[in-house]
Amino acid sequence: MEHDTAPSHQLFDELRALAAAGPVVVAHRGASCSHPENTVPAFAAAAALGVVMQEFDVQQTRDGVLVCCHDVSLDRTTDASEKIGPGALVAQIDYAELGRLDAGSWFRPAFAAARIPTLDEVLTAIGEHGIALIEHKGGEPASYVEALRRLGRAERSIVQSFDWTFVAACHELEPRNALAVLGPIPRHDSLDDAAIAEARRCGAGMVHWRLDALRVEQVRAAHAAGLAVCTYTTDDDAGYLGGAAMGVDAMCTNVPERMLMLRAMKPTGQ
Ligand code: G3P
Ligand code: CA
Repeated sequence: MEHDTAPSHQLFDELRALAAAGPVVVAHRGASCSHPENTVPAFAAAAALGVVMQEFDVQQTRDGVLVCCHDVSLDRTTDASEKIGPGALVAQIDYAELGRLDAGSWFRPAFAAARIPTLDEVLTAIGEHGIALIEHKGGEPASYVEALRRLGRAERSIVQSFDWTFVAACHELEPRNALAVLGPIPRHDSLDDAAIAEARRCGAGMVHWRLDALRVEQVRAAHAAGLAVCTYTTDDDAGYLGGAAMGVDAMCTNVPERMLMLRAMKPTGQ
C-alpha cells in the first residue's frame, strides 16, 4: 500500500511515548461522569486528576464564536428551552445570548453557574501543558485554524472530525497542525487499508475509532502507516485493558479517574 508523506507532529510522538505505559487516558467532554459535560468545571476537574489529554466538542455561534457544546440543539444541556424557546440551535444564537444560559443545572443544581464555554476558556481550563482533542461539530476550517493560531495553542491541540473533508481542508490551510479523523463513517465502516490511506491523504496523524469496531491487526496496520490510534468511548475496566492489549495509544473515557488507576497498573500493549 502506498501513502503520501507520513503526517508527523510532536504531539503524536508524545502520545506514542506516553502510551508505552498504557493507553493515554483522554477525558471525554471533561470529567463528564461527575460534572456537566463540556463545561469549565468538568475540564478543571479532569486536569486536577492529572489527565493529560481532554476531548471536547466545538461549534460556531451565529456571530462566529467557537464554543464548546456537543448537540446542535441547546435543549439537552442548557435551559435554552425556557429562556429562548424549545429547539434553539447553537449556530442560530449569538454568543452574548448563549453565554448567559445555564449549562450545569440539567446535571445537578450545584452546577447552575456553569456556562457554555468558549474555545479559549476550555483551553485555559485544560492548562497550557494539556493536550486538547478538539472535535469539530460545526464551523468552518478557517475559524479553527485562525483561533488556534490567535490563541497560541496549535502546538498543544489536535483537531478531529467525522467529516474527513473538513480535516483535509484544515490540513490545506495549515499543514503544521495536528489532525485526526474519526470513524467509522459511512464510506469507511472499518479501519482497512483504504481508510488508512485516506486518513493520511487528509493530513491526519491519528485515527480515532470506536473501540468495538476496531481489531488488533488494524491497530498494527495504522501504526505501520505512521498513524497514532485513539479509541472512543470506554468506561469499563475490561474495555480499557482490551485497548491496552491491542496497543492503542489513547482512549476516550467518561470516567478518567478509574482509567488513570488502571493505567497506573501499567497494562502492556502489543
Ligand atoms: O471523540 C470521540 C467521540 O467524542 C465521538 O462521539 O458523539 O461523543 O462526540 P461523540
Ligand atoms: Ca466528541
